[in-house]
Amino acid sequence: MARIIAGVGCSHVPAIGAALDNGKTEEPYWKRVFSGFVPSKQWMAETKPDVCIVVYNDHASAFSMDIVPTFALGCADEYPPADEGWGPRPVPVVKGHPGLAAHIAQSVILDEFDLTVVNKMEVDHGLTVPMNLLFGQPNPWPCPVIPLAVNVVLYPPPTGKRCFNLGKAIRKAVESYPEDLRVVIFGTGGMSHQISGQRAGLINSKFDKAFLDGLVENPKKLARKPHLEYMREAGAEGIEMVMWLIMRGALDEEVKEKYRFYTVPASNTAVGHIIMENPRAMKKKPGKKTAQKTQERLAAE
Ligand SMILES: [Fe+2]
Repeated sequence: MARIIAGVGCSHVPAIGAALDNGKTEEPYWKRVFSGFVPSKQWMAETKPDVCIVVYNDHASAFSMDIVPTFALGCADEYPPADEGWGPRPVPVVKGHPGLAAHIAQSVILDEFDLTVVNKMEVDHGLTVPMNLLFGQPNPWPCPVIPLAVNVVLYPPPTGKRCFNLGKAIRKAVESYPEDLRVVIFGTGGMSHQISGQRAGLINSKFDKAFLDGLVENPKKLARKPHLEYMREAGAEGIEMVMWLIMRGALDEEVKEKYRFYTVPASNTAVGHIIMENPRAMKKKPGKKTAQKTQERLAAE
């Protein structure tokens, strides 16, 4: 049986990707940001998940504003990096896990969450920047990824409560998949920021830190937070934080906080990051067959 072993919350600031791609990680401004992810990369290297589910939002890269699905699940074999205006990021093609993705689609849709199934898609910084922050810059990426794109760019985005409950449905789906896979789920975006309008540059550290506390201690209460509160307190783009609630909904009620990092600013955004483990699922070691299968799949690719 597959199981979700941990959740990762992580900002996906595009300038972090540009700093990586242009070799600026040692510059003092960026070193402050990247040094906060050194323990995270260590954790990920030790954790070695078989699959990651990455909840993120597309920034008009794969989907134009002609079609904006609320929840879009990637069921493809692979996802090339998108060209966001400066050419595609120099990161490896993201390999998918179509078997588990199709299973999640079936389970979640039959559970009455109407996902859009995506069989061909490019992925932008929303997905690849958190991958770099947790995995570094390997080639290829060390495990397959299932992208879940959430609309937070066009009103109305889904509510926090809907996101939290979708996370629960994803967990149920993962736990009914017969292969013994250890899955890490990412919630990305945020934290507080606003990129245009009179309040451009807004950052609200107090709100962000309370959000991180709430994720660990009282996610049900956090899930009731209305859109207007995100907009007012965390800026127009702070609404991206509802995606973290999908990740949190997929975890145990009681989680073990392993690591947290917060710094401002990176570009015009607050950077927040948290790692929470499901203690029981984390303890169980992967079966030999699963480890071997993962190796064989990566070798074949
Ligand atoms: Fe974003």
